[in-house]
Amino acid sequence: MVALTGELGAGKTCFIQGLVRGLGVSVRATSPTFVLINQYRGRVPVYHVDAYRTDSLTELMDLGLLELLGGGGVTVIEWADKLPSLLPSEAIRVHIDGVGDEPRVITIRT
Ligand SMILES: Nc1ncnc2c1ncn2[C@@H]1O[C@H](COP(=O)(O)OP(=O)(O)OP(=O)(O)O)[C@@H](O)[C@H]1O
Ligand SMILES: [Mg+2]
Repeated sequence: MVALTGELGAGKTCFIQGLVRGLGVSVRATSPTFVLINQYRGRVPVYHVDAYRTDSLTELMDLGLLELLGGGGVTVIEWADKLPSLLPSEAIRVHIDGVGDEPRVITIRT
C-alpha cells in the first residue's frame, strides 16, 4: 500500500502514473475522483483510490475496503491524509512538496 499526500496539483496522480507503468500496466492511469477506485491489470492487480471526496469512501473503508483490496495487489491512495487512522501502519508514505513551476521534493517513508 502506497499512501500519497501533497496539496492540490502537487503531482500525486503523475507519480502514480509512473508507478502503475512500472507495474506493467499498459493503460494510462487517470484520477478516480468520481469513481473512487480504478483497477488496473499489471504484473499484479493495482487499485488506485482517490480520497479527495471522502464521504462514501469512509463508509467503504469502515466496511473493510482496504483489507479486501489488500491481498496480492498494490493499492495506491491519493489524498491519504483525508483518511487519518484508517491507513495501516505498514503503508509506504509518499509526500510531494511543491506545485506549479516549483521544483518538487518527494519524501518516501517506509
Ligand atoms: N514532479 C513534477 N515536476 C513538475 N511538474 C509536475 C510534477 N508532477 C506533476 N507535475 C505537473 O503538475 C500538475 C498536477 O499534477 P497531478 O494532476 O499529478 O497532481 P495531483 O497532486 O494529482 O493533483 P490533485 O490534487 O488535483 O489530484 C500537472 O500539470 C503535472 O504535469
Ligand atoms: Mg490527482
